[in-house]
Amino acid sequence: MKITSICCIGAGYVGGPTMAIIAQKCPHIKVTVVDLNEERIAAWNDDDVNNIPIYEPGLSDLVAEARGKNLFFSTEVEKAIDEAQMIFISVNTPTKTYGLGKGMAADLKYIELCARQIAAVAKENKIVVEKSTLPVRTAEAVKNILDNTGNGVQFQILSNPEFLAEGTAVQDLLNPDRVLIGGDATNGQEAIDALVEVYANWVPREKILTTNLWSSELSKLTANAFLAQRVSSINAMSELCEKTGADINELSKAIGMDSRIGPKFLKASVGFGGSCFQKDILNLVYIAKTYGLNKVADYWEQVVIMNDHQKRRFSNNIVQTLYNTVSGKKIAFLGWAFKKDTNDTRESAAINVSDFLLNEQAKIAVYDPRVKEKQIINDLIYLKSRSLDDIKKGVIVYDNPYEVCRGAHAIAILTEWDEFKEYDWQKIYDNMQKPAFVFDGRNILDAKKMTTIGFVFNAIGGANE
Ligand code: NAI
Repeated sequence: MKITSICCIGAGYVGGPTMAIIAQKCPHIKVTVVDLNEERIAAWNDDDVNNIPIYEPGLSDLVAEARGKNLFFSTEVEKAIDEAQMIFISVNTPTKTYGLGKGMAADLKYIELCARQIAAVAKENKIVVEKSTLPVRTAEAVKNILDNTGNGVQFQILSNPEFLAEGTAVQDLLNPDRVLIGGDATNGQEAIDALVEVYANWVPREKILTTNLWSSELSKLTANAFLAQRVSSINAMSELCEKTGADINELSKAIGMDSRIGPKFLKASVGFGGSCFQKDILNLVYIAKTYGLNKVADYWEQVVIMNDHQKRRFSNNIVQTLYNTVSGKKIAFLGWAFKKDTNDTRESAAINVSDFLLNEQAKIAVYDPRVKEKQIINDLIYLKSRSLDDIKKGVIVYDNPYEVCRGAHAIAILTEWDEFKEYDWQKIYDNMQKPAFVFDGRNILDAKKMTTIGFVFNAIGGANE
């Protein structure tokens, strides 16, 4: 079967970039990305491509190229389902905030809604592709819904988890390490082949891996668990470095040169954030528990516990270093996004650190090159720790890095944006309260340079002799 029309439900950080690449690389396929969120779709369709809702290097050019040709963004979900041969489900799967599995299990209500909507609309056979990250064996539930509420049409379910990283999404999609397609080789080989052919338009075939459904679903959770585990492992060592005079950057380099370990994901930091790592590990922990595998669950849960500890430790260190009180002091945050080159702030360490410092009555001043004030305030509202009034009294958002630091008692680096390294740090120092403290939560600044200027400089895992 040759695919000529694709629909993607969910125009978010995954659906948007993924479909833009498919459209660009497959001019013979009409790609329609749909979402219930009208504001988001309007932003994807904005005449000025710089206003698309997701910031990713290279993405706006890609959208400008394909939009209106074979790439469309729409709120007409049913129409798009009806017209497509292949439907990607790319909706959010957050941690449950209620009921059974609260705080751990993935909330699959959006997935189920999609399945029911596809079942209700479809008049012809469809291939349904799970693009969202899902608990292992979700395809079984999706198939059940489709088969029992549908109009007697045939559905094939595939699992095709996405491994892109925000901040490098376009490059990751253009040159993926691998594309993973899980399916039922006995009854669904045709569907598997059809999706392989889509990717084969730009991905070398040896990088397109096909597996059974359950291996594919579980691989995505496993990949995120392993990646996050590296961050928590190096962060655990950063605390030991601070006590012993070892330097975490030297340690990372030394172990990363071992080809069995490798150099990536060994940067100590204030802790990982983002919408995926914590939610996916907690989901893995929950799945293990439901099978009675408590030791497996405890093992992986420790990765999240370590991450929470690191965020708390960073915040405590600020308070202790500032003579045990930050009450009324201006603490300038450089960065709010959970990592550089994205405007995504979900689970960003900055949110937790500011929450802690607000409890200590600090005045938080924030500058992030890509995150708007509205988002920052919304992130703090979402915590439900304090009223909007109190948030507005405690937090001021700036659009200039020099102004955010003016008169500050301390600067905390929360995101590793490249531009932070290029600032005129002497100028920043001159305009701060003295002693002028810097807490580098991303280890991006040169400690020697900073101390020569006169800063009291604190880096995560810094040698402390
Ligand atoms: P997102 O929250 O940015 O986008 C999801 C979109 O789906 C939202 O715009 C929402 O309005 C829409 N939606 C929800 N239910 C809908 C429905 N019934 N009909 C139409 N639209 C609906 O989420 P994101 O970050 O794109 O993640 C999507 C999935 O991909 C999640 O399962 C996530 O775990 C996974 N993933 C995310 C990655 C990332 O870096 N963000 C990377 C790899 C996988």
